[in-house]
Amino acid sequence: MSRAFNFCAGPATLPEAVLKQAQEEMLDWRGTGMSVMEMSHRSDEFVEIAETAEKDLRELAGVSDDYAVLFMQGGASSQFSTIPLNLLGDKTSADYVNTGIWSKKAIAEAKRYADVNVVASAEDNGFTSIPEQSSWRTNPDAAYLHYTPNETIGGLEYDFVPESGDVPLVADLSSTILSRPLDVSKFGLIYAGAQKNIGPSGLVVVFVRKDLLGKARKETPTMMNYQVIADNDSMYNTPATYSWYLAGLVFKWLKAQGGVEAMAEINSRKATKLYDFIDGNDFYANPIDPRFRSWMNVPFTLADDGLNGEFLKGADARGLLNLKGHRSVGGMRASIYNAMPEAGVDALIQYMTEFARERG
Ligand SMILES: Cc1ncc(COP(=O)(O)O)c(C=O)c1O
Repeated sequence: MSRAFNFCAGPATLPEAVLKQAQEEMLDWRGTGMSVMEMSHRSDEFVEIAETAEKDLRELAGVSDDYAVLFMQGGASSQFSTIPLNLLGDKTSADYVNTGIWSKKAIAEAKRYADVNVVASAEDNGFTSIPEQSSWRTNPDAAYLHYTPNETIGGLEYDFVPESGDVPLVADLSSTILSRPLDVSKFGLIYAGAQKNIGPSGLVVVFVRKDLLGKARKETPTMMNYQVIADNDSMYNTPATYSWYLAGLVFKWLKAQGGVEAMAEINSRKATKLYDFIDGNDFYANPIDPRFRSWMNVPFTLADDGLNGEFLKGADARGLLNLKGHRSVGGMRASIYNAMPEAGVDALIQYMTEFARERG
Protein backbone atom coordinates (compact mmCIF):
# COMPACT_ATOMS: atom_id res chain seq x y z
CA MET A 1 0.00 0.00 0.00
CA SER A 2 1.34 3.44 -0.86
CA ARG A 3 1.21 6.27 1.63
CA ALA A 4 -1.44 8.93 1.28
CA PHE A 5 -0.90 12.65 1.76
CA ASN A 6 -2.43 13.24 5.18
CA PHE A 7 -3.44 16.87 5.82
CA CYS A 8 -4.70 16.19 9.35
CA ALA A 9 -4.17 19.03 11.87
CA GLY A 10 -3.01 16.57 14.49
CA PRO A 11 -2.12 13.85 15.09
CA ALA A 12 -0.42 14.73 11.85
CA THR A 13 1.67 13.07 9.19
CA LEU A 14 5.17 12.02 10.23
CA PRO A 15 8.24 11.76 7.99
CA GLU A 16 8.16 8.44 6.15
CA ALA A 17 11.85 7.88 6.89
CA VAL A 18 11.12 8.14 10.61
CA LEU A 19 8.29 5.65 10.46
CA LYS A 20 10.47 3.21 8.50
CA GLN A 21 13.26 3.51 11.05
CA ALA A 22 10.81 2.93 13.88
CA GLN A 23 9.51 -0.10 12.00
CA GLU A 24 13.01 -1.50 11.59
CA GLU A 25 13.77 -0.94 15.25
CA MET A 26 10.40 -2.10 16.51
CA LEU A 27 11.23 -5.65 17.64
CA ASP A 28 14.87 -5.24 18.53
CA TRP A 29 16.29 -1.83 19.32
CA ARG A 30 19.99 -2.01 18.49
CA GLY A 31 20.60 -5.54 19.69
CA THR A 32 18.80 -5.18 23.02
CA GLY A 33 16.26 -7.81 21.98
CA MET A 34 13.36 -5.54 22.85
CA SER A 35 11.31 -2.65 21.55
CA VAL A 36 11.82 0.84 22.98
CA MET A 37 8.20 0.51 24.11
CA GLU A 38 9.22 -2.33 26.43
CA MET A 39 12.30 -0.71 27.96
CA SER A 40 12.57 0.58 31.49
CA HIS A 41 12.71 4.35 31.43
CA ARG A 42 15.54 4.02 33.97
CA SER A 43 17.64 1.80 31.69
CA ASP A 44 20.90 3.14 30.26
CA GLU A 45 19.49 2.63 26.76
CA PHE A 46 16.39 4.69 27.30
CA VAL A 47 18.20 7.41 29.23
CA GLU A 48 20.52 7.74 26.24
CA ILE A 49 17.55 7.98 23.85
CA ALA A 50 15.99 10.64 26.08
CA GLU A 51 19.16 12.69 26.52
CA THR A 52 19.97 12.59 22.81
CA ALA A 53 16.47 13.79 21.95
CA GLU A 54 16.79 16.70 24.36
CA LYS A 55 20.22 17.62 23.03
CA ASP A 56 19.01 17.56 19.43
CA LEU A 57 15.91 19.59 20.31
CA ARG A 58 18.02 22.22 22.09
CA GLU A 59 20.28 22.43 19.05
CA LEU A 60 17.42 22.66 16.54
CA ALA A 61 15.38 25.23 18.45
CA GLY A 62 18.36 27.16 19.83
CA VAL A 63 17.56 26.60 23.51
CA SER A 64 20.32 27.72 25.88
CA ASP A 65 21.24 26.36 29.30
CA ASP A 66 19.20 29.18 30.84
CA TYR A 67 16.16 27.05 30.07
CA ALA A 68 14.96 23.68 31.31
CA VAL A 69 13.58 21.45 28.55
CA LEU A 70 10.77 19.26 29.86
CA PHE A 71 9.06 16.27 28.23
CA MET A 72 5.67 16.24 29.94
CA GLN A 73 2.30 14.55 29.39
CA GLY A 74 -1.32 15.60 29.23
CA GLY A 75 -1.06 17.46 25.93
CA ALA A 76 -0.89 21.18 25.41
CA SER A 77 -4.29 21.56 27.07
CA SER A 78 -2.93 20.53 30.46
CA GLN A 79 -0.45 23.40 30.18
CA PHE A 80 -3.39 25.82 30.16
CA SER A 81 -3.67 25.22 33.92
CA THR A 82 -0.06 24.20 34.61
CA ILE A 83 1.15 27.63 33.50
CA PRO A 84 -0.87 29.79 35.92
CA LEU A 85 -0.27 27.34 38.77
CA ASN A 86 3.49 27.64 38.26
CA LEU A 87 4.01 31.20 37.09
CA LEU A 88 1.62 33.35 39.09
CA GLY A 89 3.84 33.25 42.17
CA ASP A 90 2.72 36.05 44.49
CA LYS A 91 0.90 37.87 41.66
CA THR A 92 -2.80 37.57 40.94
CA SER A 93 -3.13 38.70 37.37
CA ALA A 94 -2.00 37.44 33.96
CA ASP A 95 -2.25 38.97 30.47
CA TYR A 96 -3.69 37.00 27.54
CA VAL A 97 -4.22 37.78 23.85
CA ASN A 98 -7.35 36.31 22.28
CA THR A 99 -6.80 35.32 18.66
CA GLY A 100 -9.05 32.29 18.33
CA ILE A 101 -10.23 28.99 19.71
CA TRP A 102 -6.96 27.90 21.32
CA SER A 103 -6.37 31.27 23.00
CA LYS A 104 -9.92 31.13 24.31
CA LYS A 105 -9.36 27.72 25.82
CA ALA A 106 -6.16 28.91 27.49
CA ILE A 107 -8.00 31.97 28.83
CA ALA A 108 -10.93 29.95 30.16
CA GLU A 109 -8.62 27.63 32.07
CA ALA A 110 -6.42 30.43 33.44
CA LYS A 111 -9.53 32.15 34.81
CA ARG A 112 -9.79 29.32 37.33
CA TYR A 113 -6.60 30.55 38.96
CA ALA A 114 -5.95 34.15 37.95
CA ASP A 115 -7.49 37.50 37.16
CA VAL A 116 -7.18 37.29 33.40
CA ASN A 117 -6.68 40.54 31.54
CA VAL A 118 -7.44 40.08 27.84
CA VAL A 119 -5.06 42.69 26.45
CA ALA A 120 -6.37 42.45 22.87
CA SER A 121 -8.90 40.40 20.96
CA ALA A 122 -9.27 39.51 17.32
CA GLU A 123 -12.92 38.63 17.91
CA ASP A 124 -14.05 41.97 16.42
CA ASN A 125 -12.48 41.14 13.08
CA GLY A 126 -13.78 37.56 13.11
CA PHE A 127 -10.31 36.24 14.01
CA THR A 128 -8.93 37.16 10.60
CA SER A 129 -6.16 39.51 11.74
CA ILE A 130 -3.87 40.13 14.73
CA PRO A 131 -4.41 43.45 16.55
CA GLU A 132 -1.33 45.72 16.32
CA GLN A 133 0.69 45.51 19.48
CA SER A 134 0.47 49.29 19.96
CA SER A 135 -3.26 48.80 20.75
CA TRP A 136 -2.73 46.13 23.46
CA ARG A 137 -3.67 47.13 27.01
CA THR A 138 -0.96 45.26 28.88
CA ASN A 139 -0.47 45.30 32.63
CA PRO A 140 3.17 45.85 33.65
CA ASP A 141 2.44 43.99 36.87
CA ALA A 142 1.09 40.85 35.17
CA ALA A 143 2.72 37.54 36.12
CA TYR A 144 3.15 36.76 32.42
CA LEU A 145 1.80 37.52 28.94
CA HIS A 146 0.35 34.52 27.10
CA TYR A 147 -0.29 34.30 23.37
CA THR A 148 -0.87 31.69 20.67
CA PRO A 149 1.61 32.25 17.82
CA ASN A 150 -0.37 30.02 15.47
CA GLU A 151 -4.10 29.39 15.76
CA THR A 152 -4.36 25.89 14.32
CA ILE A 153 -8.10 26.02 13.67
CA GLY A 154 -8.40 29.53 12.27
CA GLY A 155 -5.12 29.49 10.33
CA LEU A 156 -3.99 32.79 11.88
CA GLU A 157 -0.29 33.21 12.63
CA TYR A 158 1.72 36.08 14.13
CA ASP A 159 4.49 37.49 11.99
CA PHE A 160 6.10 39.11 15.03
CA VAL A 161 7.11 38.22 18.57
CA PRO A 162 5.33 40.52 21.03
CA GLU A 163 7.44 42.80 23.22
CA SER A 164 6.63 42.15 26.86
CA GLY A 165 9.33 44.10 28.69
CA ASP A 166 10.04 42.53 32.07
CA VAL A 167 6.87 40.44 31.99
CA PRO A 168 7.70 36.84 30.98
CA LEU A 169 6.36 35.99 27.53
CA VAL A 170 4.55 32.64 27.30
CA ALA A 171 3.70 31.00 23.97
CA ASP A 172 1.61 28.04 22.86
CA LEU A 173 3.77 26.92 19.97
CA SER A 174 1.91 23.62 19.44
CA SER A 175 1.32 24.03 15.72
CA THR A 176 4.34 26.05 14.65
CA ILE A 177 7.30 24.83 16.72
CA LEU A 178 10.38 24.02 14.63
CA SER A 179 8.70 25.26 11.43
CA ARG A 180 10.89 28.37 11.25
CA PRO A 181 13.63 29.99 13.35
CA LEU A 182 12.60 31.64 16.61
CA ASP A 183 14.60 33.60 19.18
CA VAL A 184 13.83 31.53 22.26
CA SER A 185 15.66 34.02 24.52
CA LYS A 186 12.68 36.39 24.16
CA PHE A 187 10.43 33.94 26.00
CA GLY A 188 9.87 32.97 29.60
CA LEU A 189 8.11 29.77 28.59
CA ILE A 190 7.24 27.92 25.41
CA TYR A 191 5.06 24.82 25.21
CA ALA A 192 3.96 22.58 22.38
CA GLY A 193 1.88 19.45 22.06
CA ALA A 194 3.95 16.99 20.05
CA GLN A 195 1.41 15.67 17.58
CA LYS A 196 1.96 18.21 14.79
CA ASN A 197 5.61 18.97 14.21
CA ILE A 198 7.33 16.74 16.77
CA GLY A 199 5.91 13.22 16.99
CA PRO A 200 3.03 11.21 18.40
CA SER A 201 0.45 12.64 20.78
CA GLY A 202 0.78 12.13 24.50
CA LEU A 203 3.88 14.24 24.80
CA VAL A 204 4.16 17.96 25.39
CA VAL A 205 7.46 19.77 25.22
CA VAL A 206 8.11 22.74 27.51
CA PHE A 207 11.01 25.21 27.51
CA VAL A 208 10.99 27.18 30.75
CA ARG A 209 13.50 29.82 31.82
CA LYS A 210 15.14 28.50 34.94
CA ASP A 211 14.55 31.65 37.00
CA LEU A 212 10.80 31.01 36.65
CA LEU A 213 11.04 27.62 38.36
CA GLY A 214 10.25 27.11 42.03
CA LYS A 215 7.28 29.49 42.24
CA ALA A 216 4.46 26.94 41.97
CA ARG A 217 1.47 27.41 44.25
CA LYS A 218 1.38 24.93 47.07
CA GLU A 219 -1.78 23.25 45.74
CA THR A 220 -0.08 22.52 42.39
CA PRO A 221 -0.27 18.79 41.68
CA THR A 222 3.23 17.31 41.84
CA MET A 223 2.97 16.13 38.25
CA MET A 224 2.31 19.70 37.14
CA ASN A 225 5.14 21.29 39.07
CA TYR A 226 7.83 22.37 36.62
CA GLN A 227 10.49 22.37 39.34
CA VAL A 228 9.76 18.74 40.19
CA ILE A 229 9.76 17.70 36.53
CA ALA A 230 13.01 19.58 35.87
CA ASP A 231 14.73 18.17 38.98
CA ASN A 232 13.85 14.66 37.83
CA ASP A 233 14.83 15.05 34.15
CA SER A 234 11.16 14.60 33.19
CA MET A 235 11.18 11.17 34.83
CA TYR A 236 9.46 11.84 38.14
CA ASN A 237 7.03 9.20 36.96
CA THR A 238 7.05 6.99 33.87
CA PRO A 239 7.28 9.31 30.87
CA ALA A 240 5.69 8.72 27.45
CA THR A 241 8.75 6.71 26.42
CA TYR A 242 7.76 5.69 22.92
CA SER A 243 6.57 9.18 21.97
CA TRP A 244 9.83 10.58 23.34
CA TYR A 245 11.84 8.11 21.26
CA LEU A 246 9.88 8.93 18.10
CA ALA A 247 10.29 12.65 18.76
CA GLY A 248 14.02 11.97 18.91
CA LEU A 249 13.89 10.31 15.49
CA VAL A 250 12.01 13.34 14.12
CA PHE A 251 14.69 15.68 15.54
CA LYS A 252 17.42 13.65 13.80
CA TRP A 253 15.39 13.80 10.58
CA LEU A 254 15.00 17.58 10.91
CA LYS A 255 18.73 17.99 11.42
CA ALA A 256 19.39 15.91 8.31
CA GLN A 257 17.05 18.21 6.31
CA GLY A 258 19.16 21.21 7.32
CA GLY A 259 17.35 22.24 10.52
CA VAL A 260 14.70 24.90 11.00
CA GLU A 261 16.22 27.34 8.51
CA ALA A 262 15.85 24.77 5.73
CA MET A 263 12.35 23.86 6.93
CA ALA A 264 11.36 27.54 6.91
CA GLU A 265 12.37 27.84 3.28
CA ILE A 266 10.34 24.80 2.27
CA ASN A 267 7.39 25.74 4.49
CA SER A 268 7.27 29.26 3.10
CA ARG A 269 7.31 27.88 -0.43
CA LYS A 270 4.56 25.34 0.29
CA ALA A 271 2.29 27.91 1.96
CA THR A 272 2.91 30.61 -0.64
CA LYS A 273 2.02 28.37 -3.55
CA LEU A 274 -1.18 27.17 -1.88
CA TYR A 275 -2.34 30.69 -0.92
CA ASP A 276 -1.39 32.04 -4.36
CA PHE A 277 -3.46 29.33 -5.95
CA ILE A 278 -6.46 30.02 -3.67
CA ASP A 279 -6.26 33.78 -4.29
CA GLY A 280 -5.96 33.27 -8.04
CA ASN A 281 -9.01 31.03 -8.32
CA ASP A 282 -12.56 32.40 -7.94
CA PHE A 283 -13.83 29.06 -6.68
CA TYR A 284 -11.74 29.02 -3.46
CA ALA A 285 -11.30 31.58 -0.70
CA ASN A 286 -9.29 32.12 2.47
CA PRO A 287 -10.51 34.90 4.79
CA ILE A 288 -7.27 35.67 6.68
CA ASP A 289 -5.40 38.95 6.37
CA PRO A 290 -2.49 37.95 4.05
CA ARG A 291 0.04 39.30 6.56
CA PHE A 292 -1.12 36.81 9.19
CA ARG A 293 -1.79 33.70 7.17
CA SER A 294 -0.53 30.54 8.80
CA TRP A 295 2.28 28.62 7.16
CA MET A 296 1.07 25.44 8.84
CA ASN A 297 -2.74 25.41 8.62
CA VAL A 298 -4.48 26.67 5.51
CA PRO A 299 -8.28 26.89 5.82
CA PHE A 300 -10.25 27.45 2.67
CA THR A 301 -13.85 27.43 1.50
CA LEU A 302 -15.46 26.42 -1.79
CA ALA A 303 -17.73 28.86 -3.60
CA ASP A 304 -20.60 26.48 -2.96
CA ASP A 305 -20.75 24.76 0.46
CA GLY A 306 -23.07 22.19 -1.07
CA LEU A 307 -20.07 20.75 -2.90
CA ASN A 308 -18.01 20.13 0.28
CA GLY A 309 -18.96 16.46 0.54
CA GLU A 310 -18.14 15.78 -3.09
CA PHE A 311 -14.82 17.64 -2.79
CA LEU A 312 -13.80 15.55 0.23
CA LYS A 313 -14.87 12.31 -1.41
CA GLY A 314 -12.83 13.05 -4.53
CA ALA A 315 -9.85 14.05 -2.40
CA ASP A 316 -10.04 10.80 -0.42
CA ALA A 317 -10.13 8.80 -3.62
CA ARG A 318 -6.85 10.42 -4.63
CA GLY A 319 -5.19 9.80 -1.30
CA LEU A 320 -5.52 13.42 -0.14
CA LEU A 321 -6.83 12.81 3.36
CA ASN A 322 -8.32 14.76 6.26
CA LEU A 323 -9.05 18.00 4.45
CA LYS A 324 -12.30 18.65 6.31
CA GLY A 325 -12.16 21.89 8.31
CA HIS A 326 -12.59 21.92 12.08
CA ARG A 327 -16.20 21.29 13.10
CA SER A 328 -16.41 24.77 14.64
CA VAL A 329 -15.59 26.64 11.41
CA GLY A 330 -16.53 24.27 8.57
CA GLY A 331 -15.03 24.43 5.09
CA MET A 332 -11.67 22.81 4.43
CA ARG A 333 -8.28 22.96 6.10
CA ALA A 334 -4.97 21.69 4.79
CA SER A 335 -2.37 21.27 7.52
CA ILE A 336 1.04 21.32 5.93
CA TYR A 337 3.51 20.79 8.76
CA ASN A 338 7.22 20.03 8.32
CA ALA A 339 6.59 16.40 7.40
CA MET A 340 4.18 17.22 4.55
CA PRO A 341 6.28 16.97 1.41
CA GLU A 342 6.02 19.70 -1.20
CA ALA A 343 4.69 17.01 -3.56
CA GLY A 344 1.64 16.75 -1.28
CA VAL A 345 0.85 20.44 -1.73
CA ASP A 346 1.39 20.10 -5.49
CA ALA A 347 -1.02 17.14 -5.60
CA LEU A 348 -3.60 19.11 -3.62
CA ILE A 349 -3.36 22.11 -5.95
CA GLN A 350 -3.69 19.80 -8.95
CA TYR A 351 -6.84 18.26 -7.50
CA MET A 352 -8.30 21.66 -6.54
CA THR A 353 -7.64 22.93 -10.06
CA GLU A 354 -9.46 20.00 -11.65
CA PHE A 355 -12.35 20.11 -9.18
CA ALA A 356 -12.91 23.84 -9.81
CA ARG A 357 -12.75 23.30 -13.55
CA GLU A 358 -15.30 20.50 -13.46
CA ARG A 359 -17.67 21.72 -10.75
CA GLY A 360 -17.06 25.48 -10.51
C1 LIG B 1 -2.45 25.74 19.27
C2 LIG B 1 -2.96 24.54 20.03
N1 LIG B 1 -2.94 24.57 21.37
C3 LIG B 1 -3.37 23.54 22.09
C4 LIG B 1 -3.85 22.39 21.50
C5 LIG B 1 -4.33 21.25 22.35
O1 LIG B 1 -3.44 20.22 22.29
P1 LIG B 1 -3.68 18.84 23.02
O2 LIG B 1 -4.74 18.12 22.27
O3 LIG B 1 -2.34 18.18 22.96
O4 LIG B 1 -4.11 19.13 24.42
C6 LIG B 1 -3.87 22.29 20.10
C7 LIG B 1 -4.38 21.07 19.44
O5 LIG B 1 -4.66 21.01 18.28
C8 LIG B 1 -3.41 23.40 19.36
O6 LIG B 1 -3.44 23.38 18.02
